[in-house]
Amino acid sequence: MKKRVLFFVLLFITVVNAKEYDLVTGLAIDEGIDEIKENCTVCHPGRFIVVNGGDREFWKYKISVMQKGFGLWDLDKKTKNKIINYLCKNYPQKTNVDVDR
Ligand code: HEC
Repeated sequence: MKKRVLFFVLLFITVVNAKEYDLVTGLAIDEGIDEIKENCTVCHPGRFIVVNGGDREFWKYKISVMQKGFGLWDLDKKTKNKIINYLCKNYPQKTNVDVDR
C-alpha cells in the first residue's frame, strides 16, 4: 500500500516538473519562446544556441556578440529582456561539463 502511494507521489512530481518542448526548435516552451523564434532561430537551430548556458550576464554577452559580429538586429528593451529571461531561466549554466571531455 505504501509503495503505491509513493508511486503516485513520484508520478505527480514527474508530471508537474516535465518541461514541454517546441517541436520545431527543440527548445523548452516558456514565456519568451516566441521572441526567440522571431529573433534567434531564424539563423541557427535552437539546440545550437543552448549548447552552453549561463546566467543573465552570459546571455547578455552572447546577444551582444550576435549583434556585433553576426548580424543580429537591434532588439527593443522589452524583447531583449524577454529573451534573456527565457534563456537564463531555461538554459542556465550546465552542470554536466564532463560530457565533452
Ligand atoms: C543574423 C543571423 C543571426 C541571428 C539573428 C542570431 N544569431 Fe546567433 N549565431 C549566428 C552565427 C552565424 C553563429 C555562428 C558563429 C560561429 O560559427 O562561431 C551564431 C552562433 C551563436 C551561438 C553559439 C556561439 C557562441 O559564441 O556561443 C549562440 C549562443 C548564439 N548564436 C545565440 C544567439 C541568440 C540568443 C540569438 C537571438 C537573440 C541569436 N544568436 C541570433 C548568427 C545569428
